[in-house]
Parts: sequence; C-alpha cells; structure tokens
Amino acid sequence: MHLHLREGAMMERVTPLTAEHFAGAIIMPNLVPPVDNLARLQTYRDEINAAKGAHVFDPLMMLFFRNYTKAELLAAREHIFGIKLYPAGATTNSEAGVKELDAVEDTFALMEELGIPLMIHGETHGFVMDREKEFLASYAHLAEKFPKLKITMEHITTRDAVELLDQYENLHATVTLHHLIITLDDVAGGLLNPHLFCKPIAKRPEDREALLAAALQAHPKLMFGSDSAPHPISKKECCGCAAGLFTAPVCLPTLVELFEQHDALHNLQAFVSGNAQRIHNFTPPAKTVKLEKRGMLVPERYGDVVPYRAGETIPWAVTSIS
Ligand code: NCD
Ligand code: ZN
Repeated sequence: MHLHLREGAMMERVTPLTAEHFAGAIIMPNLVPPVDNLARLQTYRDEINAAKGAHVFDPLMMLFFRNYTKAELLAAREHIFGIKLYPAGATTNSEAGVKELDAVEDTFALMEELGIPLMIHGETHGFVMDREKEFLASYAHLAEKFPKLKITMEHITTRDAVELLDQYENLHATVTLHHLIITLDDVAGGLLNPHLFCKPIAKRPEDREALLAAALQAHPKLMFGSDSAPHPISKKECCGCAAGLFTAPVCLPTLVELFEQHDALHNLQAFVSGNAQRIHNFTPPAKTVKLEKRGMLVPERYGDVVPYRAGETIPWAVTSIS
C-alpha cells in the first residue's frame, strides 16, 4: 500500500520485482515534476503497465496533493486510488508539497465530499527523531474536522502513532517492513549504513516493538506498505545520501520469516492484503503466491540498486505464483 517505482530505466528494472509477488500496489507520485494532473497520471500508469511484463498487477494510481478544483477532482476520481500529501521538503522529491495545512483545507473538504482518500507523509520540520510525533496533532485535527475523509498515516514509525490509530475512526496507517525490524542503532549506532537510511528515520526499540506487535496481530487499521524506494548506489554511497530502502524483492520472504518467528503466520494475509481491501473496499486481481522454506540468497545488486538484506540468505523463498 505504499510503493515507489520511479521512471525510465529504474522503473523498468524495479517494476517486475513487485509485480511478480503482489497483485497490486499504491504507486507514489513523488516524481520530478510530480504526478499532479490526470494526463501525467495516465501516461505514468501506461508506462508501469508496459514495464510490469506478463505479471498480473494493478498499479493503484495516486495524485500528488495540491489545491485541486472540484472539476479536477471529479474528472480524476475514477482514475485514482487517493491523493498523497507531502509537507514541502519532508522527503525525496517533495519540494512541491504543502507549506501550510490550513491553506489547503478547501481541497480536504472536496475530497471528503467526493470520497477520495488522503494519504499523508506525516512529519514536521522539527528535530529528526520528533518529526512524526510532532505531526500527530495535525492528524488528529484533520481526522476530527473531516470525519468522513479517509486518512492514512503513511509509514508510521512510533508507538505514539500506533496509539493514535484507535482514537479516530477515519484514521488508518501503513507500516513498512524495515520499521518492524530496524532501529536508529542499525542505521547509525555503529558504522553508518546508508542503505538503511530512510524517511521517516528508524526510531527507538520501544517504537519498533509497538509497530511489530500491531503488525503481528494484524491490527485492523494497519496495512502493509513497503515504501520500497530505490535509489542508485551513487546516490546512496555518497555525501548527501538519498533517503529510501529498496525492499521490494525481499518483502514477502522477510515477512514470512518474521511472522513465523513470532507464531503469527495466521495473521500475515490480513496484514499484507486483507486489511487494505476491507479499509479501501477494493478487490485486486486474484493471485496466489507460494513460499517454501528453501532459502533465498539476496543478490548484492539489482542493476545499480543495493537491496535490503543484500548478500543474506533468507530462509523463505517464493517458489510459485498462480
Ligand atoms: C521515499 C523516496 O525515496 O521516494 N524515501 C523514503 O525515505 N521513504 C519517499 C518517502 O516515502 O518518504
Ligand atoms: Zn514513500
């Protein structure tokens, strides 16, 4: 429920790696320039459909949030899954994002009226470890002021965000794979690991425990969203490392490993797929993915992209898809 496919050669390389294992994904619109009009969105969707090859896979398209007119939203409604709001400058390619939430409430009201979901990258510009926590008041304000607007807190990383989920009926969340596993220690506690650097930054052990507990029980308002965000090695192993982990090829094997370790495999289907289908009331194409305990050696590179868990052997591997 949260995926970056990029454009051009990168898109052609990474799209099949998700399209193979998943029946659909929400495609994030933070391109340069952003996907903020219907024509661009339709071209981008066609490019993804060409890049996915023979795999059965539905790209669920998102518009980049800006102030939209009612006519624009009416025209876009049947072509989009939702609209993604980035605070300006919060993450990769978000310069065109929102500077003041108060200044765009007319568009929130229209989205509420037209039943268009709002997905938010919820971080302030405060101290890096506190950015999500500081944004929670904005989530609460929006959830209260627009009670019929379906709001997703994207890639939550804190215990406080998990707790907020139960406070508002119209508030949901996605969580990534890596935030169930790593903390800031893995990123910067020893030698700096740029391949684990992402926005929001991984937080404290107690945050990870709260996220993991919610995922393992398939908390009904929590959805898996990998936030797989590929960057070329030249943009990761450098000064000014880009934020984002490329997790797409290892998501399912690692989730099975994690849920098995915690005796929670019975909740995996709901976490990865069922909760999202119920929350957003949609049905992706039918697809059965079989994993077996026979080991997956994760490649060091996919082209010029270093994947999460590069060089490791994961006990589980996808062995058939139908
Ligand atoms: C994402 C990207 O690279 O597009 N990066 C990231 O660290 N997660 C953007 C985002 O979702 O913040
Ligand atoms: Zn993202």
